[in-house]
Amino acid sequence: MPLPALLFEVFTLFPEVFEPYLQSSILQRAHQRGLVEINLYNIRDWTSDRHHITDDEPYGGGGGMVMKPEPIFAAVEGVLGWPPACPVILLTPQGRTFTQSVARELAFGDDTSVPDQTRRLALLCGRYEGVDERVRQHLASDQISIGDYVLTGGELAALVVIDATARWIPGVLGDPDGVLDDSHASGLLEYPHYTRPAEFRGWSVPEILLSGDHGRIARWRREQSLLRTWQRRPDLLETAPLSKLDRKFLDQLKTSFISDEPEGSSEATGSDKPAQPPGTS
Ligand code: 6GU
Repeated sequence: MPLPALLFEVFTLFPEVFEPYLQSSILQRAHQRGLVEINLYNIRDWTSDRHHITDDEPYGGGGGMVMKPEPIFAAVEGVLGWPPACPVILLTPQGRTFTQSVARELAFGDDTSVPDQTRRLALLCGRYEGVDERVRQHLASDQISIGDYVLTGGELAALVVIDATARWIPGVLGDPDGVLDDSHASGLLEYPHYTRPAEFRGWSVPEILLSGDHGRIARWRREQSLLRTWQRRPDLLETAPLSKLDRKFLDQLKTSFISDEPEGSSEATGSDKPAQPPGTS
């Protein structure tokens, strides 16, 4: 088997929650193809006391328990050596927000990384109310949050990071262009998708998609992406790469009477209803 492109070393108190997801669908296939490898380590295996204790009361009082530093340091050091042989990413609501571009950064590393070598990343899943601050200060090289809400532990966040990062590796997706077409890859939301039948319960697929005119279809899709992004996530338009034609279309949108609701006659949008201003739909 060739070296995997991506190797995740996952440190957790709940390795069993990863198994069912990793053994399903696309990630399982990526593993079988030797593209992505995931090793799971139970932090509890590095406890040295009789009761295998991994948490303790917070100094200074207050509610909740805190993950002890010793088993976490011992586990990471035991697997990765000291100093750790790869980035150690702590999953925590206090981390930087995970986005599609962070996923790409994790998949390919910085410019100095050697291609054709395994990218090794350690993911450290916090639990309880938190982990001892010394883990954050002296063990983690990066901290990631998957959004502004609080989970009971970092395990689901780690799965999200693994999934979104693995998708960037060539060969993981069946369609080599898949990751490039995605919502967010272009910096815009994706255009609407349709498959057979052409009419379902009286709802028709937009005529243009049946036309066979690939140039017009590509332009329609681009305009749908721009329209949706303007309606639902106008913040993304600040940073998305936009062509002159894109900007002209957006300028028209702001002053026109169109929206992406179904039915109607406008070619650009499939509707003749008034546009929804950003943030209202
Ligand atoms: Cl990484 N961990 C926890 N516990 N909650 C989160 C999170 C991570 N990201 C968003 N919420």
